[in-house]
Amino acid sequence: MSDIIVAVDGPAGSGKSSVSKEAARRLGFAYLDTGAAYRALAWHCLDEGVDTADAAAVAARIDDFDYAIGMEPDRYFVRVGGEEITADIREPRVTAVVSQVARVPEVRAGLTALFRRLVSEHPKPGVIVEGRDITTVVAPDAPVRVLLTASPEARMSRRSAELGSESTESTAQQLASRDAQDMRVVDFMNAAEGVTTLDSTELDFEQTVEALITIVRAAP
Ligand code: C5P
Repeated sequence: MSDIIVAVDGPAGSGKSSVSKEAARRLGFAYLDTGAAYRALAWHCLDEGVDTADAAAVAARIDDFDYAIGMEPDRYFVRVGGEEITADIREPRVTAVVSQVARVPEVRAGLTALFRRLVSEHPKPGVIVEGRDITTVVAPDAPVRVLLTASPEARMSRRSAELGSESTESTAQQLASRDAQDMRVVDFMNAAEGVTTLDSTELDFEQTVEALITIVRAAP
């Protein structure tokens, strides 16, 4: 297996972040969480008092967005303006507005350019890049492209367990509404041509990680 780029897309709660991160660790690959960049920008807008529903105001933030991400799985961090916000970007207030930020065309163009540069500079022997539009927009020529899916029920119960939430109904609503908003911008539910679907509904975490590694190892 030579130097390789692995593109992974999937909906919220499919487990793609935790699975991609662990697969990258075992393979000794770098790991790029693109959702974290959208979340960091959303966090930054909230921090600066920018109305995230105002596309022009959000777009105005992209050029001076001073953002850094650790790509090695064991040195994973997100910083904005030197401040570490790795945990803060998972807060519900950020999750609630991230889709508004992500639908702004200038934001997508700016972050896509950033992701392509990071991917082109990735350390050997490879990188796993994970998000919503990696197999189709960011790295459509990647030698390994995977759509990680799971049934809505499985995704909901995983997300509830992750959040330790009592209210599965509101978790389900939030998940469905974020997916619906995100689907208006990019299709991450249906595999594009040449993309391998990995359905994790009946698999546990360990089996899903192994299945992804098997797909990567089978790459030319
Ligand atoms: O993967 P995660 O749930 O952290 O992504 C947060 C949000 O970032 C998504 O709901 C979506 O709005 C946006 N996103 C995107 N394109 C990507 C990755 C994430 O629009 N490649």
